[in-house]
Amino acid sequence: MTLLNADADFPLSRPRRLRRDDFSRRLVRENHLHADDLIYPVFVADSADLAGPVQSMPGVERYTLETLLPVAEQCLELGVPVLALFPVISQEFKTPDGRAATDPDGLVPRVVARLKQDFPELGILTDVALDPYTSHGQDGLLDDNGYILNEPTVEMLIKQALSHAQAGVDIVAPSDMMDGRIGAVRRAFEDQRFIYTRIMAYSAKYASAFYGPFRDAVGSAANLGKADKFTYQMDPANSDEALREVAADLREGADMVMVKPGMPYLDVLRKVKDTFRVPTYAYQVSGEYAMLKAAAANGWLDHDKVMMEALLSFKRAGADGILTYFALEAARKLRETA
Ligand code: PBG
Repeated sequence: MTLLNADADFPLSRPRRLRRDDFSRRLVRENHLHADDLIYPVFVADSADLAGPVQSMPGVERYTLETLLPVAEQCLELGVPVLALFPVISQEFKTPDGRAATDPDGLVPRVVARLKQDFPELGILTDVALDPYTSHGQDGLLDDNGYILNEPTVEMLIKQALSHAQAGVDIVAPSDMMDGRIGAVRRAFEDQRFIYTRIMAYSAKYASAFYGPFRDAVGSAANLGKADKFTYQMDPANSDEALREVAADLREGADMVMVKPGMPYLDVLRKVKDTFRVPTYAYQVSGEYAMLKAAAANGWLDHDKVMMEALLSFKRAGADGILTYFALEAARKLRETA
């Protein structure tokens, strides 16, 4: 027993004492998941032809405005504070400049207005980015070499964000990763007196392969083809750069910041939270959801247990909230076990 005696703390320190019973595990628990922490991303299509299940995301649907309404009601019932909208646009409306994104009578403004009218207490978040609207699937305007132009793209994003604000959106979330777009949108909001429209910046958004199922869902995968987003989304190898991106977005007027994807980037999340101490969100993206669903469907993982453990890990890593396709299922589970 020489090895045991070498540790002078033992048996005075016996960490298993606190782990022995449920009551004391609860007493020392450091982090909790609550329905208040969840943001539910949903896909809404501009035509009933595009509605239906998303193959690579079991349990996820493309809704129409009408079929989305009961989902919004469920969010309210389950205490999920925010619904995040992602448009699915018919090919015929996609153009190289994605101009349909700026239409004040377009799909997103119409859906926002209706949701705010029917469910005023439910927070609505919209994505500000051109990729669902561009014929090439990129988040911006291209030059002749296919390079994504910064300022002309930001001009479009300002118009897009204003069209959402005019419709009454609560939070806009620019997900494009153009330089200077948070400040540009913030200034436009102040000029137009949308002083309460919040901005959640996709600050540390990586050029990730985990977005695959999302691109299927919004129909940008085929348009994007073999192209990638490395000239604007972040290199997965970097984390100091994430701090510079967050600092810039906060200086430019972001109210909340986000790290995306989620589980492979928990180190970045922790670093951002420790450095800035601002409301910080994680996006558990489509590929993460698909992995867990696929393993659970094969009986390789326990669905509810991995869902709750994965979501709790975001809280432990410093997230104030999580965008997750599991939001309603998790909120239901939390209610059952409360
Ligand atoms: C659009 C956008 C993407 C996601 C959210 N907003 C795709 C992308 O950047 O290619 C991904 C979300 C997910 O995978 O769940 N800019």
